Amino acid sequence: MHKLLFFASGSGSNFQSVIDSIEHGQLNASIVGLITDRADAGAIERAGKHSIMSYVVPPLPKDTFSEQLLKVLAPLEPDLIVLAGYLQKIPASVTETYRGRMINIHPSLLPKYGGKGCYGIHVHRAVIHNRESVSGCTVHFVNDHYDRGKIIAQKEVPVSADETPDTLARKVLEEEHKLLPKTIRQLLTNQLT
Ligand code: GRF
Repeated sequence: MHKLLFFASGSGSNFQSVIDSIEHGQLNASIVGLITDRADAGAIERAGKHSIMSYVVPPLPKDTFSEQLLKVLAPLEPDLIVLAGYLQKIPASVTETYRGRMINIHPSLLPKYGGKGCYGIHVHRAVIHNRESVSGCTVHFVNDHYDRGKIIAQKEVPVSADETPDTLARKVLEEEHKLLPKTIRQLLTNQLT
């Protein structure tokens, strides 16, 4: 069975969508761990409820950080690493070690609205400010440039005339919860065209 490992800093609703997908028999995989930079991340509680081990690796100077991450990751032998709302930059030595086996979910149609500082509500504010008529979410491979790895899958969401950043965030997140498990399933079963 394929082994998934998650990185998350926040509430972990995307992490939960994959847990649910596995529990409902829609995804044949196991989750071998959650890595977070925050001891108060909501994702930790979700992991605990499903007997998934959490590892808190606080942000450290670059070299020590990559050393710590690689030390936690190696024995877990993940087939696929999923960044789901993880706010630290992954050091290059880690993205290199897991090249082609590390993905991220982002709440915009990349390459638009990506890069440093473009996360969470900031993305949706910018989309509305620029009067876009469409937004959405993207799953992409991770390299050592923020949000610039190869795009794997996207889902569009229409932006209505009276949209607010909060309503758009909710609409996009709802699609993320479908796109992420679906894309993981396709990646693990080589079904991507
Ligand atoms: C999601 O919008 C995801 O695209 C982004 O961070 C958010 C995480 O939300 N990278 P959650 O913690 O999964 O609820």
